[in-house]
Amino acid sequence: MLEKNGLAREIARLKKEKNAVILAHNYQIEDVQLCADFLGDSLELSRKAAVLTQAIIVFAGVKFMAETAKILSPGKKVLLPRLDAGCPMADMITLDDLREMKRQHPQAMVVTYVNSSVEIKAESDVCCTSANAVQVVANIPAREIIFIPDENLGNYVQKMVPDKKMFLFEGFCYVHWRISEEEIIEMRSRYPQAKVIVHPEVCPEVTALADEVLSTSGMLKFVSRSSQTEFIVATEQGLLERMKRENPGKTFYPPGTAKICSNMKRTTLRDVYDALNEEKYEITVDPAIAEKALHALREMLEPLKKLSSH
Ligand code: 13P
Ligand code: SF4
Repeated sequence: MLEKNGLAREIARLKKEKNAVILAHNYQIEDVQLCADFLGDSLELSRKAAVLTQAIIVFAGVKFMAETAKILSPGKKVLLPRLDAGCPMADMITLDDLREMKRQHPQAMVVTYVNSSVEIKAESDVCCTSANAVQVVANIPAREIIFIPDENLGNYVQKMVPDKKMFLFEGFCYVHWRISEEEIIEMRSRYPQAKVIVHPEVCPEVTALADEVLSTSGMLKFVSRSSQTEFIVATEQGLLERMKRENPGKTFYPPGTAKICSNMKRTTLRDVYDALNEEKYEITVDPAIAEKALHALREMLEPLKKLSSH
């Protein structure tokens, strides 16, 4: 049985031999973060997947992220080390739910958070991530918007773009949902000098208490540029590990207890090795659905002024 260092060496060897690259999300366990070629938030990883030249992409994250990489890079072999690493929020909305919302709001354009299935993306006008949701909604050439599936992100965007009329779906992230107003108030009273930075998937009561509302990589940039040295970070614990590693002089506090996404934590270094070695689990997307989903993803990645009218 290979130990950690042995696995890391074998992963490096296989990457070279197979012309592969490892993309990892900021919530992955530290060993996996450290073996990645690119570590980032959903938007950064999508942009990377669209321009990579390697033949194989190993995506250490959750399924919708690997599917997005496959749609943006259809000629590549995209591997997800754990097939059971899904995002429960992505599975909350069905096609019937979306079609019913469209029926009720025929004038509205559909903005879909990337934390969603390929089928839902395929019936959307444009995708967004937590890093660009406000910008996407602000620039869309429609006043009415169906925003799915995250209600908290939708509420935050609606607050930032009040001239749009947004219709929200009641999806949520079970990890960010656990971050309470009371926890933030308690942490603030314990560390009054600390800045409170939160992910927009938290509930509106928590967003209202924040100094900054940012995507995971937005939070990383903020803490590294800030002259402050203490931060209360309201998101999944994996990001705090990266922050600590990259900002040794600064202190990061979770919101009360550490919040863990068990789906993100499924992938181990051994799984990454097995994925590369056995070229598993290959992500495939029906080409007809992929083509439609690609349109919504491209609308997000290309300059927003190009967004087509409804
Ligand atoms: P980011 O795009 O901010 O990294 O968020 C992805 C995610 O799944 C948050 O829960
Ligand atoms: Fe999905 Fe929440 Fe996990 Fe992000 S943290 S992958 S939204 S369950």
